Amino acid sequence: MFKNTFEAITTRRSVRRFLEKPVENEQIEAVVTAASFAPSWKNTQTARYIAITDPAAKETIAAEMLPSFNAATVRSAPVLIAMVTQTGRCGYERDGSYTTKKEDRWQYFDAGIACQTFCLAAHEMGLATVIMGIYDEEKLPAFLGLAEDQVLTAIIALGYAAEIPACPKRKGVEDLLRYI
Ligand SMILES: Cc1cc2nc3c(=O)[nH]c(=O)nc-3n(C[C@H](O)[C@H](O)[C@H](O)COP(=O)(O)O)c2cc1C
Repeated sequence: MFKNTFEAITTRRSVRRFLEKPVENEQIEAVVTAASFAPSWKNTQTARYIAITDPAAKETIAAEMLPSFNAATVRSAPVLIAMVTQTGRCGYERDGSYTTKKEDRWQYFDAGIACQTFCLAAHEMGLATVIMGIYDEEKLPAFLGLAEDQVLTAIIALGYAAEIPACPKRKGVEDLLRYI
């Protein structure tokens, strides 16, 4: 669909209004398959995905576990993805000690890479996404039935865009990069 990876990266936008058009399970699976190729700490592959497609479940989440701005997005999207991380692996040595001073925070680094890989793969398939970090951090993991060794790292709305926002301004390379 895109001429190259640069085009895919720069044209992806966070979309908050979606068409009523459904997303097939096969499409979700293709996106998750692509996201499985994201790099991870010692190839621990701790990212997991829960696809919430049931409208009643989505409505419960929107009504009870999200601020109004994210609730509107989730009501509009045909699919809500919960990004889950398996804890106790990323950032650790085999003996259970931490490898670096960042301790287990590497798991959030890996979750972020997997998340963006997921979003870019969806974009390639003509699907739109928005990552959401603001939700009820007690109620939503409980509603999803997460295990003791799992943490909810983000949620992602997924569907066909009804509206593609303008690109929010980016910092220039002069602000981002320095050479030594
Ligand atoms: C970790 C993270 C959390 C975010 N949380 C939210 C959110 O709760 N609600 C929302 O509408 N957008 C959220 N966003 C989307 C950002 O606002 C968006 O990526 C940013 O404005 C740049 O726009 P673009 O993605 O279209 O380039 C989040 C993005 C990231 C990476």
